[in-house]
Amino acid sequence: MSLIADAFYLYFLKWLHLPLQTSVRYTPKDGISKAMRLAFKKGDFRFPIFYYFYPRFKIQKIKSFIMKLLEGKTAIVTGASRGIGKAIAIKFAEEGCNIAFTDLFEDENMKATEAEIAALGVKAKGYASNAADYADTEKVVGEIANEFGQIDVLVNNAGITKDTLLMRMTEDQWDAVINVNLKSVFNFTKAAQKTMLKQRSGSIVNLSSVVGVSGNAGQSNYSASKAGIIGFTKSIAKELGSRGVRSNAIAPGFIITEMTAKIPEDARKAWEANIPMKRGGTPDEVAKTALFLASDLSSYVSGQVINVCGAMNT
Ligand SMILES: NC(=O)c1ccc[n+]([C@@H]2O[C@H](COP(=O)([O-])OP(=O)(O)OC[C@H]3O[C@@H](n4cnc5c(N)ncnc54)[C@H](O)[C@@H]3O)[C@@H](O)[C@H]2O)c1
Repeated sequence: MSLIADAFYLYFLKWLHLPLQTSVRYTPKDGISKAMRLAFKKGDFRFPIFYYFYPRFKIQKIKSFIMKLLEGKTAIVTGASRGIGKAIAIKFAEEGCNIAFTDLFEDENMKATEAEIAALGVKAKGYASNAADYADTEKVVGEIANEFGQIDVLVNNAGITKDTLLMRMTEDQWDAVINVNLKSVFNFTKAAQKTMLKQRSGSIVNLSSVVGVSGNAGQSNYSASKAGIIGFTKSIAKELGSRGVRSNAIAPGFIITEMTAKIPEDARKAWEANIPMKRGGTPDEVAKTALFLASDLSSYVSGQVINVCGAMNT
């Protein structure tokens, strides 16, 4: 008997879910009564019925039941026209987050990513900007703050490699990697912190790498930039913690993207053979960790580095 009652109850919740979500999504800050008026206006009586018959459900309980993890928030993701950044932007958008993302050029990739995110029902805009450039970053973050009105999450994802042994590494190869991978994190964090400090909340997620933790032959520039990100992440967590801003890093292992597609087939197979889970990770697997760090699921996690590497780094 109780099984039938449970099944009926679950069906009832499913029936209510869509109008509830619609009502609350448009009025996340105005509370239940405005959401109810909106539902009435739309001629949908499911929400009021639910509220009338289940008064024991408190507003927060209803909201947490129907609202997505990043509902009504705004995130900036750098270098998100493809790869891990794109997967993060899409994962956040699926959780109700408005997305401002950057990449070097306003090209087909950027337009396609913007359209894919917008199709998820959130606000989405791609900005052409060089993350390594301080002035460019100040300008674009200012534009985003004006356009979106808030910055709740910053994902510093833009990155490049210029791998070679130290004996062959040029000054340009060193500077390019340090500027795009590390200076960009300083540029964006500094520009976005003003808004986060005003809001007294925010989550910063920086893309480091397992080689930033353990080093790698032929990647001294890249490893140094990724190790620098870890030091920066921990310092910012200590600096901004009292103001409600969290800062964490993700250290992915071998993730299958266009960045790693450059690695020759045999070298890639050798890498994979050395991973305890015997495979490369997917951008989506990194995005799931970014979602945890961006959302309140990690409300007491700050100054940490999370390896997403199939046990490559333990
Ligand atoms: N793929 C991996 O195995 C792996 C492992 C560890 C860490 N990471 C890190 O994750 C991040 C994303 O990697 P990915 O594999 O998706 O790389 P990717 O090359 O596929 O994507 C990087 C994106 O950043 C953009 N970008 C490059 N320079 C930029 C700049 N100056 N300004 C703005 N955008 C710029 C690129 O145009 C590209 O769209 C990087 O920081 C990378 O170092 C990747």
